[in-house]
Amino acid sequence: MASDRCLPYFMLLILISGFTFVPTPVASSSSIGINYGQIANNLPSPDDVIPLVKSVGATRLKLYDADPRVLRAFAGTGVEFTIGLGNDYLTRIRDPNQALTWLKSNVQAYLPSTKITCITVGNEVLTFNDTSLTANLLPAMQSLQGALAKLGLDDQVTVTTPHSLAVLETSYPPSSGAFRRDLAAPLTEILKFQARAGSPFLINAYPFFAYKANPRQVPLNFVLFESNPGVVDPSTGLHYDNMLFAQIDAVHSALASLGFRNLTLHISETGWPSKGDANEVGATPENARKYNGNLMKIMAQKNGTPLRPSGDLNVYVFALFNENLKPGPASERNYGLFKPDGTPAYALAPNGSDAGGNGRPASKSGSPPPETATPTPASTSTSSSTGYLAISSGVERCHHNGRTLLVLCLAAIKLLF
Ligand SMILES: *[C@@H]1O[C@H](CO)[C@@H](O)[C@H](O)[C@H]1NC(C)=O
Ligand SMILES: *[C@@H]1O[C@H](CO)[C@@H](O)[C@H](O)[C@H]1NC(C)=O
Ligand SMILES: *[C@@H]1O[C@H](CO)[C@@H](O)[C@H](O)[C@H]1NC(C)=O
Repeated sequence: MASDRCLPYFMLLILISGFTFVPTPVASSSSIGINYGQIANNLPSPDDVIPLVKSVGATRLKLYDADPRVLRAFAGTGVEFTIGLGNDYLTRIRDPNQALTWLKSNVQAYLPSTKITCITVGNEVLTFNDTSLTANLLPAMQSLQGALAKLGLDDQVTVTTPHSLAVLETSYPPSSGAFRRDLAAPLTEILKFQARAGSPFLINAYPFFAYKANPRQVPLNFVLFESNPGVVDPSTGLHYDNMLFAQIDAVHSALASLGFRNLTLHISETGWPSKGDANEVGATPENARKYNGNLMKIMAQKNGTPLRPSGDLNVYVFALFNENLKPGPASERNYGLFKPDGTPAYALAPNGSDAGGNGRPASKSGSPPPETATPTPASTSTSSSTGYLAISSGVERCHHNGRTLLVLCLAAIKLLF
């Protein structure tokens, strides 16, 4: 199968990265996770998906449901699963008895051969602005946690919920990151619960949206992890050469400002579409290859963000497959690393192109990366993050180039919806 050709490249990549940058054993190098969305009618059977997942070196998968076919197929593979309960489950699951019943048949039944380690409750609930949905979120999480404890599984399975980046009211500079004021109260209660339970805070972050909204003002190389001057956070002096890291650190700052500095943060979705509608600037195979390929390289280097340099990045690319039944603009159906027939949506490894965009060399070995590799990505199933960064119109005046002006321009970025 086509993906077999990709395997040598990824092994080489891991070896190079491991020996060049990572003092710890190669096997522990942070691996990429992938969102396995299935809003499609033409996807391969889960058994045929196993080699694809391995071909890109992914060791973690995230489902938007608890598809028994997938959970059965991946038994014994060692792949770690995050499974999901959709927003329409919250009312039911807040009932402790229903939570227990659901856990028994959707989690306990597969353990330990299928390694389920995390349950996401709802998706981007808070940014729906639906008060009854929001009101059900924490009780549903609590019921599941209680049921896990009852089954003795609470030390191996955690409960969390993914948020859109639009939970932020301020995202630039990263040190000023702050949550929407109207969400501070419900979020604080959820964060207290998560701090006690020890579960990670999840955020879906798409620099693509920022670029698409302002292609003339947002530097493409800054969002694609390619070489660029970057920006400096004026209050910390920290240098950012890619937008994803700036977004992640904005979330770290927002968490800290609510008193949850130590909560683990994972990126539950990020990615780049290889195709879009005519007005979706930037949705090309070339940009998707750069975004996901560079992201994988950065992950392999195992460095954190400027604000948390030693924090392991834990990222789930969206998505494994192009999903032909997703509604919305064409980009929504084209986030996949793979086409439904199992062939790569684009070649992930660059032909020796510069991928050192975050200030670190992509490879010190001097050998150009082979070109047959496959992609790595991220996707969203029922909804996608609506939050993105956009530059306010007031800064149109400062669009000349050069580092200083770029800093000034980006300092005026603010979060829109
Ligand atoms: C939700 O509310 C916020 C704050 O009032 C607003 O900015 C945002 O556009 C709303 N989102 C939706 C999806 O209605
Ligand atoms: C956060 O973590 C640091 C280092 O592990 C620890 O010293 C500190 O007490 C923690 N803070 C809180 C609020 O838990
Ligand atoms: C990548 O390498 C292949 C094989 O060497 C070559 O045919 C192709 O033109 C190259 N593509 C680019 C963009 O350099």
